[in-house]
Amino acid sequence: MANVAIVGTQWGDEGKGKIVDLYTEKADIIARFQGGNNAGHTLVVKGRKTILHLIPSGILHDNKICIIGNGVVFDPAVFLQELDELREGNLLPPNTKLFISEKAHLIMPYHRSIDQAREARTSDKKIGTTGRGIGPAYEDKVSRTGIRVGHLYDEDLFIEMLRHSLEEKNFLLTHFFKEKPLDAKEIADQYLGYAQKIKPFVADTSLMLDQEIKRGKKVLFEGAQGCHLDIDHGTYPYVTSSNTVSANASCGTGVGPNAISKVVGICKAYTTRVGEGPFPTELNDAIGDHMQRVGQEFGATTGRKRRCGWLDMVLVRQAVRVSGINALAVTKLDVLTGLEKIKICVGYKSPSGDYTHAAPASLKTLSECQPVYEEFDGWKEDILYAKEMNELPANARKYLKRLEELAEAKIILASVGPGREETIILEDPFLNRI
Ligand code: IMP
Repeated sequence: MANVAIVGTQWGDEGKGKIVDLYTEKADIIARFQGGNNAGHTLVVKGRKTILHLIPSGILHDNKICIIGNGVVFDPAVFLQELDELREGNLLPPNTKLFISEKAHLIMPYHRSIDQAREARTSDKKIGTTGRGIGPAYEDKVSRTGIRVGHLYDEDLFIEMLRHSLEEKNFLLTHFFKEKPLDAKEIADQYLGYAQKIKPFVADTSLMLDQEIKRGKKVLFEGAQGCHLDIDHGTYPYVTSSNTVSANASCGTGVGPNAISKVVGICKAYTTRVGEGPFPTELNDAIGDHMQRVGQEFGATTGRKRRCGWLDMVLVRQAVRVSGINALAVTKLDVLTGLEKIKICVGYKSPSGDYTHAAPASLKTLSECQPVYEEFDGWKEDILYAKEMNELPANARKYLKRLEELAEAKIILASVGPGREETIILEDPFLNRI
């Protein structure tokens, strides 16, 4: 039996939520390994739309273990709110258990304040973050001034760490950003209150995963964002603050890399991006509007309109390489229905050379790149009800075949509509061990 990691191959928003939800049926454990509530996984179950930002999408299924791993930055207020909403909607199955790593770092109120103040101040250089405090929380983790979930249970230590950190943060907030200072006592009371509420969920999730894997349980590692938002491999600095590639499924949950036997890359049939940063195949025309409107391309976290463009295989090939992707799940193919012609970007041309398998690291060079396209005839038929590849129009099949060839990774799933049922499933990633 395989353990499977799921990662995005583009700039996030590839439709991972739906695929994770589908694969959850086959898994015993679903573990998130990076990011925080900057993510937004939109799921449509029984016609009801649910957006989860922090809790793994697996929570909607019964008899599962859901884990928020040590690599996640954890906002307890968001966690408790999501949990309440799930309870109110009667969406929490009776036998599913949820755990938070004691080593996950807390997102503190000053992280949010700094994130937002920084973005407001540097309007010409802003990243377009989600404003949830993700970057500043990871900064503290790396600079060794972060506070972990486990620290909440040693009250004196927690207060000491908070005071120490806040001294510096308040200096930054007041003197540099000209914002109001935050109050240590208020934050301590708030967070110690959260601590009691989240206590039943806090655990050594690395040890738990190890024990469950040894018992033969199947794990689904749920990535957030996408390869090109990766702090190392993305379009830096227009990226998020964690490693979004599959290798972090290991570091971010505390299992060895050999525990991850298959990597499924999620690839939307076109490209989108939220926030600032380069986007070679962006379309500022009627076709881009079509993708945005039909694909309902609004950020699940911030509600911002997503920028849209043609499928960019330079990006997808790079993602296949850096994440060791063995199989692809193609999403939102139905959004392309009705377009006369469809293009795939197969490379970039620039004054400094051609690029086919990797985007140039220099943003200046990338901005000079012109996409090279292959053009395909579109299809008009409704594909929502297709359950097999041969029920798709010939032109849709051609498009997918070319995508597969260019990616050098096999397509094992194609999503043709938002619902669970609107999916062509070719292979179960949990069955084949490579
Ligand atoms: P941050 O993660 O909030 O720091 O934002 C950094 C960049 O990542 C911004 O361009 C965000 O729009 C983008 N980003 C963060 N999370 C997601 C996501 O889940 N989907 C798409 N873009 C995201």
